[in-house]
Amino acid sequence: MSDPTGSPRETAASPPVAQDVAALRLAVAQWRAAGERVALVPTMGALHEGHLSLVRRGRAEADRVVVSIFVNPTQFGPGEDLARYPRTFDADCAALAPLADLVFAPQAQEMYPPGGSTMINPEGPATAGLEDAFRPGHFRGVATVVAKLLLQCGPDIALFGEKDYQQLKVIMRMVADLFIPVRILGGETVREADGLALSSRNRYLGHEERARAPLLHAAMQRCATAIRAGEDATSVIASERESLTHAGFAVDYLALRDADSLGDPAPARPRRLLAAARLGETRLIDNIAV
Ligand code: PAJ
Repeated sequence: MSDPTGSPRETAASPPVAQDVAALRLAVAQWRAAGERVALVPTMGALHEGHLSLVRRGRAEADRVVVSIFVNPTQFGPGEDLARYPRTFDADCAALAPLADLVFAPQAQEMYPPGGSTMINPEGPATAGLEDAFRPGHFRGVATVVAKLLLQCGPDIALFGEKDYQQLKVIMRMVADLFIPVRILGGETVREADGLALSSRNRYLGHEERARAPLLHAAMQRCATAIRAGEDATSVIASERESLTHAGFAVDYLALRDADSLGDPAPARPRRLLAAARLGETRLIDNIAV
């Protein structure tokens, strides 16, 4: 595909790259005219197997897959890692070459043109608490950029990881509330062999921190097993929280929630255990079904 911005970026080692909405819409319109179904996988780049598993699932569910790569400034709080967020565009394109039909890589002014003044404010139990308590305004940025991407691309399906479980729920709620015509699919969390959930931020971990990081998932699994066995969730969570703190984690939350609404858990309903903890400068999040 030619690049209307005048700077053809594609090489054999990359899918075609669209840098503006016009080029994205042109490609999608051509596929649609041929009766093809389109999947979108939104990412912030620094791609790993977690991202690629969503792209592969997209390939299985649709004829064409678009992967967006955009480090969205509005979802980072002051003092967060926007400036140092890993940017590995060439390696990302190489990883996507055999998997994606198009990479959408807009600049910030394409996503947030000067004068823009509309943001989406998600509310309710899916948004309140958990990440929202520690990253106020984060889901406002996420919901806004995801709504823009969905409206720019107009995919049949869009894929998001369960790794960011609360994000997935916020997006499902937003799409339903705003009648955005797309099917949202969640993909299972991809983990390292030792249980650590893959994350672009794992590369921040020092050698010794990386060795300790899997303790988070291990503690969550012990919690889930004990709760399933009928032990009191509050005391199980308190004791695992303490063991994590002892191991050097600063635990933001370790919480049991209703798996759908993310409100308080109720008996006989699916539940989800969610956690965020900092190890040095790196913030890890994870969640598992209970
Ligand atoms: P990013 O962190 O790049 O993640 C992109 C997608 O990959 C998200 O849907 C995320 O849940 C999924 N993902 C990340 N790690 C995963 C893993 N280990 N297993 C499975 N899926 C995983 O999440 C974002 O970007 C942004 O908030 C975004 C939705 C793109 C909006 O800016």
